[in-house]
Amino acid sequence: MSKALDGVRILDFTHVQSGPTCTQLLAWFGADVIKVERAGAGDITREQLRDIPDVDSLYFTMLNHNKRSVTIDTKNPEGKQVLEALIQKCDVLVENFAPGALDRMGFTWERIQELNPRMIVASVKGFGPGPYEDCKVYENVAQCAGGAASTTGFDDGPPVVTGAQIGDSGTGLHLALGIVTALYQRTHSGRGQRVLAAMQDGVLNLCRVKLRDQQRLERTGVMKEYPQYPNGKFGEAVPRAGNASGGGQPGWILKCKGWETDPNAYIYFITQAPVWAKICNVIGKEEWATDPNYATPAARLPHLKDIFAEIERWTMTKTKFEAMQILNKYDIPCGPILSMKEIAEEPSLRKTGTIVEVDHPTRGKYLTVGNPIKLSDSPTEVTRSPLLGEHTDEVMAELGYSPEQVSALRTAGAI
Ligand code: COA
Repeated sequence: MSKALDGVRILDFTHVQSGPTCTQLLAWFGADVIKVERAGAGDITREQLRDIPDVDSLYFTMLNHNKRSVTIDTKNPEGKQVLEALIQKCDVLVENFAPGALDRMGFTWERIQELNPRMIVASVKGFGPGPYEDCKVYENVAQCAGGAASTTGFDDGPPVVTGAQIGDSGTGLHLALGIVTALYQRTHSGRGQRVLAAMQDGVLNLCRVKLRDQQRLERTGVMKEYPQYPNGKFGEAVPRAGNASGGGQPGWILKCKGWETDPNAYIYFITQAPVWAKICNVIGKEEWATDPNYATPAARLPHLKDIFAEIERWTMTKTKFEAMQILNKYDIPCGPILSMKEIAEEPSLRKTGTIVEVDHPTRGKYLTVGNPIKLSDSPTEVTRSPLLGEHTDEVMAELGYSPEQVSALRTAGAI
């Protein structure tokens, strides 16, 4: 079966996490992704957080599936020529270098346009134009500058970053959407364009609800679904909300049976208004269904802490899976806190290809996260990440270089 992006060639100049997540997605959708790396070194993540000596790390392998790897020294004049040939042959150049690096290499937007006016040049940067545009940025910097950290954690503690890589992988997702949108526009404009996804912007986009709350707070001085209500204090900015739900249906994380020894024996419980009577029945507080102090969402807001404490008395008598099973019978929205170990072992995720086992020539078998986006006409088959420069000869031949020329370029240190 053909793939959605069959025929699209991506010149992948990305490294670390944000850019590689983007190009990996495009590869999963069928694009030919040619990753350019420096000979002898490669993407720095190949050697970061290694669990096996001299073997590409899981950090690298899990972000670079389905790609080809070529080595080019783009600061070497002959290496530059190879890169120019690739620019002429590809549809999209994706990069996430520090600001200005591509220009310093000699590949300005104007130069790329000269070489290939249909080329889409897609970049991840830490910040968009403004005071921080020249800064290098990593994941947690973006989480802090994008508003996530100030709104994550508990009221009495410091700002907290989240394990979800919303700065890197989140921005990679944004960039991938920008790229396919630009490819679509090119079908009628015939022109390439620049696509920029700034990590601060991507994180803020994912924190949209907190900017909503900032404006609610400024108007009313209070947010009744936040744990600060009714006894705590609100300041000028959206406070950290602990585990409160970001939406209109109050929720909290509650202990389940075994919590004393298992750090993940918890469940997320949502007191969704339409099932309030059922919740009251399940926890044995039938009278709350009609008690005017509890019967309506507005009446419940000042008592949320007590309500969750009462529900927790019930959840503590069940494992998170037992609780989930019972609550789902009544359509009560809830979710177990799953550890990475439980997720890795979950058969249904293996079945859908969301967790995939991949074989690698030097590493052996390992688990990875497959394509979370499923297209019925473009199924994803996850193949291993390339070894450094594994496809240099193959790609050079496709560019029209003879084996002798390739060998000379290698001797000159250009590839
Ligand atoms: N041949 C020759 N030189 C190459 C090369 C190649 N194939 N590939 C990269 N380089 C050079 C670059 O030209 C640059 O050189 P210069 O600084 O002399 O111009 C150099 O390698 C390093 O690139 P840089 O991007 O500055 O790497 P870094 O390790 O210092 O910084 C980041 C890493 C992630 C902080 C930085 O790239 C960045 O801020 N990127 C944008 C935001 C981002 O994506 N952050 C998240 C990463 S997960």
